[in-house]
Amino acid sequence: MKNISETFELVNGCKIPSIGFGTWRLSDGYEVISAVSKALECGYRHIDTAAAYRNENGVGEAIGRSGIDRSELFVTSKLWNTERGYRKTLQAFELTMQNLGLDYLDLYLIHWPASESQYKNWDELNLDTWRAMTELYEQGRVKAIGVSNFMEHHLDSLMKTPVKPMVNQIEYHPGYMHNEVVDYCCRNNMLVEAWSPLGESRVLNNEVLCCIAEKYGKSPAQISIRWCIQSGVVPLPKSVTPVRISENFDVFDFEISSDDMCTINSISEFAFSGHHPDKVDF
Ligand code: A2P
Repeated sequence: MKNISETFELVNGCKIPSIGFGTWRLSDGYEVISAVSKALECGYRHIDTAAAYRNENGVGEAIGRSGIDRSELFVTSKLWNTERGYRKTLQAFELTMQNLGLDYLDLYLIHWPASESQYKNWDELNLDTWRAMTELYEQGRVKAIGVSNFMEHHLDSLMKTPVKPMVNQIEYHPGYMHNEVVDYCCRNNMLVEAWSPLGESRVLNNEVLCCIAEKYGKSPAQISIRWCIQSGVVPLPKSVTPVRISENFDVFDFEISSDDMCTINSISEFAFSGHHPDKVDF
């Protein structure tokens, strides 16, 4: 591995593996169990799930079957939108823990902000949810807490609370860089994680990425993943395909030059999912 850390550090000192395995769209049971088992076999030690993915059971099952010591793993789950607010958050967390069969989580995130388009009291609701997240953190039930899909205006109030978000997981890939949010997080000591670091495969035929991939003898997927890590962002690629699961983890034996990083950084936006946090209807 050249010039890159296999772990990043959160503001509270927790270490987080610099790449995680994403599990969105993996159905519970055989599909998620075999994909997570394959990921763990390849060396991933960071698994990202969410209550909304409805596969926490299978994720827990694969973790249990792996025999890997819990302390070597970094497991994230997320609070779904219907469970916002102090009391509901605490209840939802218990269900997540039951489903996963774990006794602590490494990272718990608010999946989406309550937004202005849906709630008059959106800011208050986010703060109320955050109060429960903070309590879980202070009780040691979770090692770190954060948010997902929060933009600057959703974060402003949370930044004034005693325990600030340590992570923000957002859509981030070479076709959608969201630089204002990333800069905000950076200024406020929040690590950024990338959901859909391959733009759900929309970025993989991009000419610039294909050209750079050829130069390094790597695939466009590996270039996108490595670009994330070199940008200080944790990619969470997902796949059900064993050979791709392993390919996506094989990104530690090369380094993208600063010129090529600049070239990727200057790709114009072309592969946004369309899920704007203030406009989604879920
Ligand atoms: P599959 O699951 O059929 O292997 P993202 O992580 O950005 O959401 O992208 C996930 C999508 O990209 C899935 O459709 C997945 O397909 C595909 N994918 C994942 N890894 C690779 C890869 N190395 N090469 C090509 N496609 C990939």
